[in-house]
Amino acid sequence: MTRRRLGAAAYTVVWICALPVELAAAQVMLDEEHLPHDDVSSTQYTLGRIGSHNVVLACLPAGQMGIGAAAFNAGQAMSNFTSIRFGLMVGIGGGAPSAEADVRLGDVVVSQPVRQHSGVVQYDFGKTGQGGQMTRTGSLNAPPKVLLHAVAQLRAHHYQGRDRLATHLSTFDQRPYFSREKAGPDVLFEATYHHDGGATCERCSKDHVIHRTARRADEEVTIHYGTIASGNQVIKDGATRDRLSEELGGVLCFEMEAAGLMNDFPCLVMRGICDYADSHKNKAWQPYAAATAAACAKVILSLIPAAEVVKTAAVGEACKYRVPFNLKGVPVGKFTERLRDTQALERALLPHEGTKERRLLVAYGLGGMGKTQLAANFARRQQHSFSSVLWLDGSSESSLKLSFAAFASRIPAGQIAEASRLYAAGQGGDVGVVVRDVLGWLSIADNSDWLLIVDNVDRDDQRREEDAEAYDIGEYVPEADHGSVLITTRLWHLGQLGERWEVRKVDKGQAQAIFKTWYGRGVGDDANTITGQEGDELLGLLDGLPLALAQAAAYMSETGTSFSTYTRLYREQWRELMEPHDGRRMPLRSYANGSVATTWTISYMAVKARNKAAANLLLLWAHLGNKSLWYGLLAAASQKSAVAAERTAAWLGEMARSEVEFFNAIGMLRSYSLVEAGDQTGHSTHPVVHQWALHMQDDRQRTALSWLAVVLVGLAVPMDTEKKYRETQARLLPHAERCEKSIEGAALGAEHTSTLNTVNNLGLLYSDQGKLDEAEKMYMQALEGYEKAVGQEAISTFRPALNAMWDLGSLFDRQRRVEDAILLYAKALAGYQQVVGDDHASLQALRDALAALAPKEDVTRAGTERVS
Ligand SMILES: *[C@@H]1O[C@H](CO)[C@@H](O)[C@H](O)[C@H]1NC(C)=O
Ligand SMILES: *[C@@H]1O[C@H](CO)[C@@H](O)[C@H](O)[C@H]1NC(C)=O
Ligand SMILES: *[C@@H]1O[C@H](CO)[C@@H](O)[C@H](O)[C@H]1NC(C)=O
Repeated sequence: MTRRRLGAAAYTVVWICALPVELAAAQVMLDEEHLPHDDVSSTQYTLGRIGSHNVVLACLPAGQMGIGAAAFNAGQAMSNFTSIRFGLMVGIGGGAPSAEADVRLGDVVVSQPVRQHSGVVQYDFGKTGQGGQMTRTGSLNAPPKVLLHAVAQLRAHHYQGRDRLATHLSTFDQRPYFSREKAGPDVLFEATYHHDGGATCERCSKDHVIHRTARRADEEVTIHYGTIASGNQVIKDGATRDRLSEELGGVLCFEMEAAGLMNDFPCLVMRGICDYADSHKNKAWQPYAAATAAACAKVILSLIPAAEVVKTAAVGEACKYRVPFNLKGVPVGKFTERLRDTQALERALLPHEGTKERRLLVAYGLGGMGKTQLAANFARRQQHSFSSVLWLDGSSESSLKLSFAAFASRIPAGQIAEASRLYAAGQGGDVGVVVRDVLGWLSIADNSDWLLIVDNVDRDDQRREEDAEAYDIGEYVPEADHGSVLITTRLWHLGQLGERWEVRKVDKGQAQAIFKTWYGRGVGDDANTITGQEGDELLGLLDGLPLALAQAAAYMSETGTSFSTYTRLYREQWRELMEPHDGRRMPLRSYANGSVATTWTISYMAVKARNKAAANLLLLWAHLGNKSLWYGLLAAASQKSAVAAERTAAWLGEMARSEVEFFNAIGMLRSYSLVEAGDQTGHSTHPVVHQWALHMQDDRQRTALSWLAVVLVGLAVPMDTEKKYRETQARLLPHAERCEKSIEGAALGAEHTSTLNTVNNLGLLYSDQGKLDEAEKMYMQALEGYEKAVGQEAISTFRPALNAMWDLGSLFDRQRRVEDAILLYAKALAGYQQVVGDDHASLQALRDALAALAPKEDVTRAGTERVS
């Protein structure tokens, strides 16, 4: 027979083996052997045909074993034969018999996805020390569909009794080297029984042999489907074998190469069982096991129509643009799973079969929400779904360009200008050209499976005039209609670029998990040091903001601070607590700027530069409640008091007079994610932002704004004749509560007395809401203030003070504190009599109130006596 010679492009399947015995078995399975391809050395590959497929047989160079060697070998085969669509890894392995799987020598195990595994799992990914716990990090890629379909068919044929394994196996009949008889008996020892000696266990005790019933002759070779464990270590111990199998959820076979290929290369693994991965290992069964695996591979290959193969993309093409994932610049840190967000990213960004359209997701949200960690975790976990992953630092235009340049150096040679590849190494040149080159590379039609992540695009391009580092991210996204792009930002409006996803605060369970990650133990785990209530209180204050949680936990863990102490410090010395420390205490590098105290400063400065009133609104808000801010709260005061109107205008511009201005300001804050979406009661800000806005202001701002807040809230207290009176009251209450602190802390009276009137109004609000203690406090504060403002003498005829006395009197009256009530009513009455005259109509109500409390006395005289 004359041997044919085909071009390299004719070969679509690569059959990979590691040992000469495996290669020999593979060669037996060829229906036709081809002459070596011109350019390819005949020692490296055997070429031939199996059924309708032209196959490259590639064997690892003698003496090389393990995952790395296999990966290298396959990579080379792919670059020499660019039409290859998939691979088969065919050879021998150590069986793991169990109650579930009666694996015997000469059987074949085919990798098939089971539950969480792809069919192949790497067992020594993490620590491999003796007795050390093996850590598994994710599973490898699943074999391609066309192969899985063939496997399904093989199983179906087997049930129907028409599989062709025996036929192909009979090809080995003329080659005694591969015969079953030569292999000897199949003996399985108990897992814990160690080899006692002899090349074929002559000295091992028969007492420890596990008895198994003989198989029927027609079932001599059984094919098993399931998980194959792959690693760089040979497993030579039955107990270890069984333990690993259990840890990995049930393994049928152990081998040493497959993990090197599964991630980068679509392939199916099949292993003939030549030993039991225990100390009784010998080589007697290797040829026969290699033969059964090769026969099985041929069966599977024959089940795949050549036309199907051609339809799948060539591996070499996909590999051509492959850039291995690299953690450089990716801020991977401790990550706590956030399923809702992770799934959103997967939905939006993972390539779908059948469509190549570009996918672009903008993950936006307040700084400190963990957007970067989400993106980093996604990149790390899904790296194998993409041919390359570009991680770009978008925090400024120059850092963005430098990240492009760093990536350029990793693009395979010849695909972009050499000067661009060398730029990052300090070879000089124009970084703008490098960026253009990389964007061009991403736009190549065949290079369509990349993932581009631009992290922290927080500078607003609308501010390019003032901010030299601001830029338009649109100019850095390839225009080709393929690939996946993820942008993380605080800027809401970037959502216009594609799909928008808001990264929101985490729920309580996740908050606890984040806390635990950084603290080392959970909230409430240790009853001696943490009570659940104190933990809850702190978690409430931090309200699901991952950065604040991480920072608190890291600080507490480092300093041994208790929950209650931290909570107190948080309230009193927020800034000292939240500022970045020497770095040792604040290991939060995976968060931009790493500390709550600084993280929002850039956004704040940007808002301030564009709309000072909006920035001031954020500062003022710190003195109000964190939720339910609405236009009416700002507007009422200006209508009722000229002084209030003037002060409000000084801080908030036209906002209190124009609803449009108010919405502009809210819109501005919202576009930087500093304000959350509102509900019917108004707009909200995150409690930690709220606290930050309080502590970042200086004393002058704090004094003036707390005064303004009291005035605004006090004057917004509605009259009971107003529409929506109850509703407005309810909305005001949280703001009033916040104001209380300002009132206590402030030296009231030194200010304009109109403040005191508003404090008195707050008393009315509380009194109306049945909060009598708070109401009393407000009235007393107002009275003390009036006294300070006008003096002890004048207060007895100062009308606002008399109003406050009357109000306080009726409060006591309501509480049945008769003596106190009489005292205040009488004081008020006496004062009014002097100011408005004895027979003023409104005094009758006061007289009646007094009379009701002290019916037997001459009310007027009694009152007068007390007052004088
Ligand atoms: C096969 O590919 C490798 C890696 O690209 C290359 O070094 C080698 O020269 C190629 N062999 C032949 C014979 O083309
Ligand atoms: C934020 O506002 C809500 C509702 O008014 C309040 O219950 C909560 O305590 C506030 N959170 C903080 C941390 O101040
Ligand atoms: C945050 O970090 C960036 C870059 O790392 C730096 O330019 C910026 O000044 C920092 N901002 C603050 C407020 O520390």
